[in-house]
Amino acid sequence: MQTILVANPKGGSGKTTVAIQLATWFAWQRRPVMLADLDRQQSALRWLAQRPDTFPVIRGRDGIVDRLPADAVQVVDSPAGLHGKLFDAALQAADRIVVPMQPAAFDRWASADFFTRLADEKRVRKGKVDVALLGMRVNARTQTARDFAAFVDDAALPLLGTIRDTQLYVQLQPRGLALFDLPRPRFERDYGQWQVLLNWVSRP
Ligand SMILES: Nc1ncnc2c1ncn2[C@@H]1O[C@H](COP(=O)(O)OP(=O)(O)O)[C@@H](O)[C@H]1O
Ligand SMILES: [Mg+2]
Repeated sequence: MQTILVANPKGGSGKTTVAIQLATWFAWQRRPVMLADLDRQQSALRWLAQRPDTFPVIRGRDGIVDRLPADAVQVVDSPAGLHGKLFDAALQAADRIVVPMQPAAFDRWASADFFTRLADEKRVRKGKVDVALLGMRVNARTQTARDFAAFVDDAALPLLGTIRDTQLYVQLQPRGLALFDLPRPRFERDYGQWQVLLNWVSRP
């Protein structure tokens, strides 16, 4: 089994959005998928409760699952302010950590602290867990996008793409669906923005 932790202590950075897109993509790959929701707000589990049963199955739990079939993927959605025992447990379970972040200065400042904390963690230092960034709600051709690119260069963490700001993700929430449930030809541009991240999480 493989566990992917989606984390950024800043609220509203896009964690739940990324977690449900990843879970959906793996479900379409016909992998057994566990969506572990560590947030008390339970947005991911509420989203899952809306999911029509005609779409590929995703199972959900309100905590990390230790044992799953060998081909299973666990996607862990974490709360804002992740710290202490919950952070330690999530870190221990994770094979990969995806850090979604928005490009604005407040987000860059908040995330910089988190990167320092991560870099100090034994599992990260020993290379037992890989960490990468995903830009969320990034509008290309803005000064903020350029500032974000400079920040990423300094952060010494790989950037696995940037996802545009679009109502698409918002409108799919109440339907229990995600981008990968939609026909690819119509959403080619959006599918494309996830490709580098999907390659990274699929690496054995
Ligand atoms: N790429 C995007 N374009 C537009 N809205 C987005 C995008 N990604 C996330 N959002 C919206 O931003 C808000 C915060 O995202 P969310 O995934 O809930 O963050 P977190 O789980 O880190 O608090 C949500 O309402 C979500 O729908
Ligand atoms: Mg959330």
